[in-house]
Amino acid sequence: MQKYTDFIDEVLVDQPGIEKRVRELGEQISRDYAGQDLLVVCLLRGGLTFTADLTRWISVEHELDCMSLSSYGTGHYSSSGNVRVNLDLMTNIEGRNVLLVEDIVDSGRTMAHVLMMLKTRDPKSVRICVLLDKKMRREVEVNVDYVGFDVPDKYVFGYGIDIDEHFRHLPFIATADLEKYQKPE
Ligand code: IMP
Ligand code: MG
Repeated sequence: MQKYTDFIDEVLVDQPGIEKRVRELGEQISRDYAGQDLLVVCLLRGGLTFTADLTRWISVEHELDCMSLSSYGTGHYSSSGNVRVNLDLMTNIEGRNVLLVEDIVDSGRTMAHVLMMLKTRDPKSVRICVLLDKKMRREVEVNVDYVGFDVPDKYVFGYGIDIDEHFRHLPFIATADLEKYQKPE
């Protein structure tokens, strides 16, 4: 197994930078949902670290649920938009204000699919909060309500985001040089 130092390109956001932005987002969400019902939905597994930190800055009383999705029929490190539900919500979202928390919006296909699926369950509202937005990669229009950082069209990892299921635990967000990266056996 390689060390991340073998293929890291650059650190995009360091730990204090993430902490500051996550706090700002949590405070903004708290203002926007003041006095309202709120169900935070973490999209596993990439959104796990971000959600755990974000909810500690959401001062509005809220519930938390998780969903796990995966894209399939795709090449390396890109999404085909064919989304499979691995784990569905436990909560009935009818009439609820849902805030989806995700790691990255890239082509937008995953989010567009989740939105379509959740809207059939008659929630009162659905908003999206993403840590990273790769805007220039968008293929499907998705209205993202809260964005942590805009990032370039490069492979990113750390702070919940993996490369082949590794490196999620790193406390910063970095880009990878995929020429130097070797897939584990
Ligand atoms: P989309 O459907 O193309 O928007 O893909 C979004 C999903 O692709 C994200 O939830 C990530 O799981 C994955 N993804 C996109 N870009 C990256 C990246 O740079 N690093 C790791 N995962 C990524
Ligand atoms: Mg994901």
